[in-house]
Amino acid sequence: MDRIRIVGGKPLNGTIPVSGAKNAALPLMIASLLTRETLTLENVPRLADVNLLIRILGNQGVDYRLDGKRVGDAPHAGQTIHLDAPTIVDTTAPYDLVSRMRASFWVIAPLLARMGEAKVSLPGGCAIGTRPVDLLLMALEKLGADLEIDSGYVIAKAKKGLRGGEIDFPKVTVGGTHTALMAASLAHGSTLIKNAACEPEVRDLADCLVKMGARIKGAGTSTIEIEGVASLSGARHAVLPDRIEAGTYAFAVAMTGGEILLEGADESLLPVVLDVLRETGARVEQTSRGLIVARNGGGIKPVDIITEPFPGFPTDLQAQFMALMTRAEGTSHITETIFENRFMHVQELARLGARIRLAGDVAIVEGREKLKGAPVMATDLRASVSLVIAALAAEGETLVHRVYHLDRGFERLEEKLQACGAQVERLREPG
Ligand code: EPZ
Repeated sequence: MDRIRIVGGKPLNGTIPVSGAKNAALPLMIASLLTRETLTLENVPRLADVNLLIRILGNQGVDYRLDGKRVGDAPHAGQTIHLDAPTIVDTTAPYDLVSRMRASFWVIAPLLARMGEAKVSLPGGCAIGTRPVDLLLMALEKLGADLEIDSGYVIAKAKKGLRGGEIDFPKVTVGGTHTALMAASLAHGSTLIKNAACEPEVRDLADCLVKMGARIKGAGTSTIEIEGVASLSGARHAVLPDRIEAGTYAFAVAMTGGEILLEGADESLLPVVLDVLRETGARVEQTSRGLIVARNGGGIKPVDIITEPFPGFPTDLQAQFMALMTRAEGTSHITETIFENRFMHVQELARLGARIRLAGDVAIVEGREKLKGAPVMATDLRASVSLVIAALAAEGETLVHRVYHLDRGFERLEEKLQACGAQVERLREPG
């Protein structure tokens, strides 16, 4: 398995192009199952999760084509993928594929809406918590699906098609909202989603569905209305920039010092995060090219945060923020309210010298002046990158093991950091 070697202690200075958002690209790709025509997605990041989803969709009958480079393309422009599902050849999504990526469970919605049936393996738990799918299933039932769970599979049927209904989520769920949007777009009649997720990735999916002919109002707010249509067409859509990637590098420079331009980043996608960043002492400025984040001299101020659904502080940046707080001039409290087990990075940060105590869903971080490099283990995607950030600011060498987690969600991480002066390299496993 590959490892990443980091020699810390250098400030970051330069430009980092922000890639397309993984968590928007995945549901957008799944939406290709809703139409016989071609869905063209631009600015798709080159990530292991994208490649895996291409394989999963291929099993259902989706062909894909990648555009080559075009004259005038920026050297690191995202890829353009054409997805075609003229015929769905299989409505089953098997365990060996779904168990490798939770989001692939969402194929249940377009398969059911288009074909009247779907058999999809339950995804199971993962490193950040139990992650049930009860609310996704509730949403499909409200749209008239008959559901049965048999031998680890959800078998969903709607022989006469789905019909509109009212879905009132008791808890905000991104995946539940994606699922409901895709299913309701092809249902008979109108659907009202209450307490919908307001995440920008939900709005991005809705924008694409509207280009495909769906009738959706209110996406990006907590109440969404959908008027079902008989069929959807192809469309061309560009994936929105990755706010979690942008926030990650923003915390990195706040930790190491220096100044970076996050090219393509947009402050409207990071409302609370940027306020918190400023409170820690960093300078943040929106320009026409993207966000400038800098910390030149001055210490890191401790700030308390609570993770919440958008527009609150995202759980996907909690681990990275904790890394920053390990070097703050004082104590901070980090409360995780979205996932029950998302503190796996705590023990690894401790190897670098961080002082963190856990009390239920709160991590109490006592900032220290210095961290020191050590071997650490990546446990999940965001936890892994928090170790990279901490290592960039630590004295000496850190070896991050199990970096395949990073490859799932961070495009060209080492290259982007190297371009800003970081001493980072991938040690490839021979063979
Ligand atoms: C999405 O996961 C993201 N994944 C996650 O990013 C992100 O952390 C999460 O939203 C929250 O923002 C993708 O977009 C691919 P949820 P999702 O349904 O949709 C509970 C990353 O690192 N819940 O919004 O699976 C659930 O347990 C990943 O990129 C139920 O109880 O998350 C959690 O407590 C990790 N029943 C809360 O809701 C359900 O049926 C929010 O989860 C569904 C969810």
